[in-house]
Amino acid sequence: MKIYKTVSGLQTALQTLREQKKTTGFVPTMGALHEGHLTLVRKCAAENDVCVVSIFVNPTQFNNKSDLENYPRTLDNDANLLESVNCAIIFAPTEKEIYPEPDTRVFDFGQLGEVMEGKYRPGHFNGVAQVVSRLFDIVQPDKAYFGEKDFQQLAIIREMVKKHQIPVEIIGCPIVRESDGMALSSRNMRLSKEEREKTALISRTLLKSCNFAGEKSVPELKTWVVTQINNEPLLEVEYFDIVDAVTLQSVEDWNDSPYIVGCVTVYCGDVRLIDNIQYKS
Ligand code: PAJ
Repeated sequence: MKIYKTVSGLQTALQTLREQKKTTGFVPTMGALHEGHLTLVRKCAAENDVCVVSIFVNPTQFNNKSDLENYPRTLDNDANLLESVNCAIIFAPTEKEIYPEPDTRVFDFGQLGEVMEGKYRPGHFNGVAQVVSRLFDIVQPDKAYFGEKDFQQLAIIREMVKKHQIPVEIIGCPIVRESDGMALSSRNMRLSKEEREKTALISRTLLKSCNFAGEKSVPELKTWVVTQINNEPLLEVEYFDIVDAVTLQSVEDWNDSPYIVGCVTVYCGDVRLIDNIQYKS
């Protein structure tokens, strides 16, 4: 496994591999890696000749300065984990390498970008698109792997690739969960033991709500989920929406779409947690 910190170093290595007709798979991350990331990396390494993982905490996608400052940075540990799952190349650039000049590009995702995370974190997806398009440009992968945990991010990336005709295949991967159902996240390490126990209620409620889909109306189910989670004093729902999984627009009725997901964001103290569940597929 090799670690490159510069664009030129990485591109020289990738050029040699391309001349040998090797296929390249790519997993972009912000580090502080856990089993969720590693599942993506294993799949990437199995499906491509070369697996490249980037580790870069992208400042342009944070709309909260303290969230950016508090984001865990654990490069040595990340490198050890990646070595164990057949990652061939780590790309861990500095900010200057990714943004030699400030990135002023503005992306338009239409209605996809206006709801849920797009509404509550203005500018977030523009920053994600800036960094991911820049990374695609540098790595030029055949395939790139993203988790369904960030359901809206995956939809936004698919839209960006389609609109800008970027020649990469986007592969979505299922959410990896702890044994109590909690979706793995780099932010979980900021929770105290007590908080971490309470946050299992989020996925437990989503899972339970599947049994009521159809029986309760969409508005009734929304209220039920929010009430269940907010009943725990340490948790506060920012939003819960039940949406068409392709357009991400709210549905009013279970018959409105053949493919429906519920997406939730919950604060535990100042830690912002997201999760989602598929009601109809
Ligand atoms: P990060 O939060 O590090 O996540 C990197 C990738 O891992 C994303 O595609 C995310 O959806 C996936 N992932 C995280 N937790 C997961 C879980 N529990 N199960 C399955 N997949 C999971 O997402 C980002 O970084 C950034 O926005 C990035 C795309 C790297 C751009 O900066």
